[in-house]
Amino acid sequence: MCGIIGYVGENNSTSYIINGLKKLEYRGYDSAGISILQDDKIVTVRSVGKVAELEKAALQVNPQGTTGIGHTRWATHGRPSEENSHPHRDCSGELVVVHNGIIENYLTLRDKLKKLGHTFKSETDTEVIAHLIEENLAHTRAANDEEKLLKAVQKTNGQIAGAFAIGVMWARTPGMLIGVKTQSPLVVGLGKKENFLASDVPAFLQHTNKALFLEDGEMVVLRTDGVTLFDASGKEKKVKATKISWDQKTAEKGGYAHFMIKEIYDQPQALEDTLRTARTDFAKLLGVDEKALRALRNIHIIACGTAYHAGLVGKYYLEQLAGIPTSVDLASEYKYRTIPPFEKTLAIAISQSGETADTIGAIKKAKKLGFGTLAICNVLGSTLTRVCDGTFFTHCGPEISVASTKAFTSQITSLFALAACLGKANGHTSEADFEKYAKNLVRLPKDMAQTVKMEYDVRHLTRKIYKADRFIFLGRNVNFPIALEGALKLKEVSYRSAEGFAAGEIKHGPISIIDKGTPVFMLMPQGELFEKMLSACQECRARGAYVVAITTKGGEKQAKEVADKVFVVPQTDDLLQPILNVVPLQFLAYWIAKRLGCDIDQPRNLAKSVTVE
Ligand code: F6R
Repeated sequence: MCGIIGYVGENNSTSYIINGLKKLEYRGYDSAGISILQDDKIVTVRSVGKVAELEKAALQVNPQGTTGIGHTRWATHGRPSEENSHPHRDCSGELVVVHNGIIENYLTLRDKLKKLGHTFKSETDTEVIAHLIEENLAHTRAANDEEKLLKAVQKTNGQIAGAFAIGVMWARTPGMLIGVKTQSPLVVGLGKKENFLASDVPAFLQHTNKALFLEDGEMVVLRTDGVTLFDASGKEKKVKATKISWDQKTAEKGGYAHFMIKEIYDQPQALEDTLRTARTDFAKLLGVDEKALRALRNIHIIACGTAYHAGLVGKYYLEQLAGIPTSVDLASEYKYRTIPPFEKTLAIAISQSGETADTIGAIKKAKKLGFGTLAICNVLGSTLTRVCDGTFFTHCGPEISVASTKAFTSQITSLFALAACLGKANGHTSEADFEKYAKNLVRLPKDMAQTVKMEYDVRHLTRKIYKADRFIFLGRNVNFPIALEGALKLKEVSYRSAEGFAAGEIKHGPISIIDKGTPVFMLMPQGELFEKMLSACQECRARGAYVVAITTKGGEKQAKEVADKVFVVPQTDDLLQPILNVVPLQFLAYWIAKRLGCDIDQPRNLAKSVTVE
């Protein structure tokens, strides 16, 4: 899981590439490197650590050239080190390669290439690509070097197996870059007298909003004055540009200290934008195949991490509003368990990035089993959206912080809209209830705008508790997944130990970990289960816990009797309440991490999209 970028144009490529890498750092950040074609020599600078380290090193060398490639790495083969950083070279040092993904047959290829006399300098799978192209170049006849490189890369593409997005630069073909894609994202930025190759749009959005998303098996040649696309069979294909509506400002921090806090504050707008499309897209979805949707008998939700927690909330929605039995699986588990052959089943994959390998693998399995497939995804053109039969886009804009916030609330909102539409189509939700839900959905962005005002109070509380060793989160029904999400968020960004439980379960074991002063967060909006949550507060308090109640209007008075601190979240429909209840927990994670001096947007050991199994 890495980020790649390439530039061909009329300007010095170094700063374009370094800036592009900064935008891609969310994909991985244990080392980085650039190669610039300076005159007829390739100058490579690589360093361990973040792109800022690479930038310092590059400033010393100051390479000059209008063609270049760069890479930010998240190690999969070989430890993070200078030798293992990309770009990787062939034996001559004239050809360099950057790569995102995994070459599954690299060991066999490396043995063969070694026998042919190639010398390897790194432990990576990527280096075989450089040597393989070198080997193929040596056996390729062509009218000129450009054609020769094209043929050699085409041949290499057919010899490597696995998931990969690759960028290739050769010293003998200045002003030309080649990109190849199979199961890892690769997109071309189409500029004026300059073109970009990148793992994701933010890498070049500052320069152009015209993008070409590559399909699996495709190869692209970039030159200053144009781009040539080839399909998997090597036939030239028409370049179809997609206009990206995100502007650069949206993709940047907008004045906040971190992307995470900015993205928490983005939520009212994110919900607004998601709902705008929900109205048209789900209506379209129902319009297109209403009969099939009415006939649905089972739903399988598949996702990882935070998206899985959104799926857990979605199960309550789909079963209550649409009456359809719904299972929720971690994608990494779904792929390897026996799934009975259900009829009329829809598999829904939820993913912010659309590039999570586990989720893509699991949905492919669902497809093989003959299930219909729907993606709930935030990234246009991502692999998942191309694998699934249909996609609903959560229009919450780029999510850069590794810890997912606005994507989570947008995913839950989408699931609610979907469940209501399905329920309306199959008669499980009455017209009157549908209207009530629709009204509450429309009000949701406003409720969210109220909810984000809680930051100050939550921040104040964290001063008291941020040094605690362990945090507990409890909820029931639709708020149980929010307890899990609150714990995950805190773990991710603050490295504190945190656990979420169904409140009814603590007496069956987990209560033993509650100690004097342990902060316990209770998700207890007014409603059916409020009294039960009051009892859970008492049980925890009796063991010395520092109890924080998150409730809604009307619950405050009773909550104060059993909790040390009470937060009141705006009230909405019981089912939609989790979307608001998670917000104080997002602030909590942020502020605890901030007080502990953690690297909030790029927590240790994590990367934004996990494109390997
Ligand atoms: C948590 C987080 C991860 C992701 C998970 C799935 O804050 O970001 O747990 O939710 O890796 O990623 P996507 O949604 O891109 O498939």
